[in-house]
Amino acid sequence: MITIAVPAEGGREEKRVALSPETARKFAALGARVRVQAGAGAGAHFSDAEYKEAGASVMKGAGATLKGADIVLTVRRPSASALKGAARGAILACILDPFSDKAGLSALAKTGLTVFSMEFMPRITRAQSMDVLSSQANLAGYKAVIDAAAYFGRALPMMMTAAGTVPAARVFIMGVGVAGLQAIATAKRLGAIVTATDVRPSTKEQVESLAAKFIAVEDEEFKKAETSAGYAREMSAAYKKKQAKLIAEHVSSQDIIVTTALIPGRPAPELISKAMVESMKPGSVIVDLAAERGGNSAVTKADRTVVHKGVSVMGPTNLAGELAGNASSLYARNLHAFIALMINPEKKGELAIDWDDDVIKGTLAAKGGRLVHPMLVSTKSKGGKK
Ligand code: NAI
Repeated sequence: MITIAVPAEGGREEKRVALSPETARKFAALGARVRVQAGAGAGAHFSDAEYKEAGASVMKGAGATLKGADIVLTVRRPSASALKGAARGAILACILDPFSDKAGLSALAKTGLTVFSMEFMPRITRAQSMDVLSSQANLAGYKAVIDAAAYFGRALPMMMTAAGTVPAARVFIMGVGVAGLQAIATAKRLGAIVTATDVRPSTKEQVESLAAKFIAVEDEEFKKAETSAGYAREMSAAYKKKQAKLIAEHVSSQDIIVTTALIPGRPAPELISKAMVESMKPGSVIVDLAAERGGNSAVTKADRTVVHKGVSVMGPTNLAGELAGNASSLYARNLHAFIALMINPEKKGELAIDWDDDVIKGTLAAKGGRLVHPMLVSTKSKGGKK
């Protein structure tokens, strides 16, 4: 019988948890023993009693939780030292943040744990239920608009009153992936005038289907700007210049901008220069969801709100974590769908991993003491000396 362990998130402030009472029950039904550290669910308002009722053992301290565990589930990447006690070769599945803190990642690989990075989940239909980037980005896109609206000193919808008309706010969403689409939908629901841009041509139709207006330079390069995996490519300097000109004109008339533009494995593209921030009216708000990867605006500072010439630029790095209850429930379901693949349905509660499965192969970051994922091995050799 395998043991699945969920320690409390340590280190950074993180309210999310990798196990919900619902998934504890589901893991138990698969024949696994489930252990959760006391208080691990507090930030998401899951009580120890609920976990117990779902069939999990609530343990005092990380040591007792991890002892002899076969599978460890966390939200953030734990340090190598935090995982002492888990069996060598045990599985760790988490949001690994695989392109930051390379030394920490190598140390984690060296522990001999089999590490899965949930961010590497292939975007195939079968893996949609395991896609943590989607489940978390969707919530972040919603919260970005809610936070911007709360911070903005004006109303979003148009209001016709006896004292006069309150104009609708103009909201511009830059980057129409999962977060951007939810941001558009949320801003529309709040009654704003919404426009959006992206470099992937397929987003035009998606923006229009949400009754927002699409703004982009639609040239030949734009028509090819999507990888087969559905992600954005880095655009040429010439395209970026043309796009920047069009966007600069548009930005100056906006009240709220939410930026979400990311390119996997690369720093976030800068879409809003300092001069563009300065072109906005005082009181305008920018929420930069790319802050963790350097930001889409030139003035963004991660985890801070910078007021630049009257324009507030927010750089939250964990907005999904602020909706910890929803974010944890969805993340825990993503993990359950993924881990269930590794449990033998015939012999309940025993591991049976198909290393050739695209979902397993695609997410495997480290095994046998070293990093194995192609994106991590190649970045490492490019950066390192021979
Ligand atoms: P992401 O978080 O990597 O990037 C956010 C958005 O920024 C993307 O739409 C990207 O095109 C855009 N962007 C990048 N550079 C830009 C620039 N210079 N200017 C403007 N925009 C720029 O993307 P996310 O949210 O992960 O989604 C990527 C795609 O994958 C989407 O088409 C999404 O619908 C698709 N998807 C497919 C899934 C599946 O089939 N299982 C699951 C989830 C998403």
